[in-house]
Amino acid sequence: MRDGRRNWMGVLPVAAALAYPSFLQGFHAAVSADAIALSAALLIGAFAMPLSGIWFALRLNGRPMRFDLRARRVTFASIAAPPLFVFVGVAPGLAGIHIPDIAIWIAIWLAAGLYVWFAPDGPVAPAEARPIARWRVAHGVAAAVIACFVLFHLTNHLFGLEGPQVHKAIMAAGRKVYRAPLIEPVLVGLLLFQIASGVRLAWRWSSLKVDAYRIFQVGSGAYLAMFLLAHMNSALVSARAVHHIETDWAWASGAPGGLIHDAWNIRLLPHYALGAFFILGHLASGLRVVMIAHGVRASIANRFWIASLVAAALIAAAIIAGLCGVRV
Ligand code: HEM
Repeated sequence: MRDGRRNWMGVLPVAAALAYPSFLQGFHAAVSADAIALSAALLIGAFAMPLSGIWFALRLNGRPMRFDLRARRVTFASIAAPPLFVFVGVAPGLAGIHIPDIAIWIAIWLAAGLYVWFAPDGPVAPAEARPIARWRVAHGVAAAVIACFVLFHLTNHLFGLEGPQVHKAIMAAGRKVYRAPLIEPVLVGLLLFQIASGVRLAWRWSSLKVDAYRIFQVGSGAYLAMFLLAHMNSALVSARAVHHIETDWAWASGAPGGLIHDAWNIRLLPHYALGAFFILGHLASGLRVVMIAHGVRASIANRFWIASLVAAALIAAAIIAGLCGVRV
């Protein structure tokens, strides 16, 4: 018999994910009614939901039963709620499925809850802990290449604070490289490989008792896997290939309604903000591991990691401020 407390801890992240769209809808209603304090509280709730997944993963860390393992994996998936909600709002329409996104959302998370709740009894089988050294190296090498694009891409968005024209000029220069016929397919291929290898690594790490740094690394990786799928689906498939929309500043900032006041676009705000935060935090997590492996003292590597996360949060906030109309 499992004790009740353990069961509830395992499915609370599912309940939190189920509630995620309500925070966004509530925010939209509150902001439309000029209820500033309430809208701020609901937006904080929308951000707290995916971030709470990291706390739940810490609480579930290292527990030995199969129920706990499933709960941990679904908890890591719950961190990816913001990009999953964007994906659910775009992909079904592209596939000709016209079911309300909220219905799909409820179905996904009810299925996740049942997957956890009805886990078989007994401890985790040892076979789940297989070596992954080659995956780690390949993931790290691909990350170094992808980081060049990401750092340019985020710097480009930071220049949105100077206005759409500056953003456009920098993007036009960047496109000559990353949209070049020989480079773009390689970049997309590398990102797809990164998603697949990242999921493989997360699957393995989630079966082990790990430290808080690793939990953040796995949780941010889970977010990024979904973020990249959703973001590439929106930019490359929906906008460019299907609807022939220019993926410029207006597209990114949800013009003309904007990110804040449009009932659909509000989902892009946590999606983008946490996307920028988690990609930088995830890169810093990888660098921390590399630093320690190369003899850097753990205390120094840890301080580098904390400083990087603070910088990541500030950069994400600045990008979002620009997307919401702030100019310097
Ligand atoms: C933080 C807010 C972000 C915003 C507002 C944003 C916006 C955009 C825009 C406007 C494009 C179209 C670019 C173009 O047409 O040249 C784009 C493409 C793309 N973005 Fe982002 N992005 C964000 C974050 C990220 C992050 C964190 C990644 C992580 C890897 C990422 C990966 C990509 C990729 C792979 C493409 C497709 C590039 C291509 O081949 O054209 N984005 N994004």
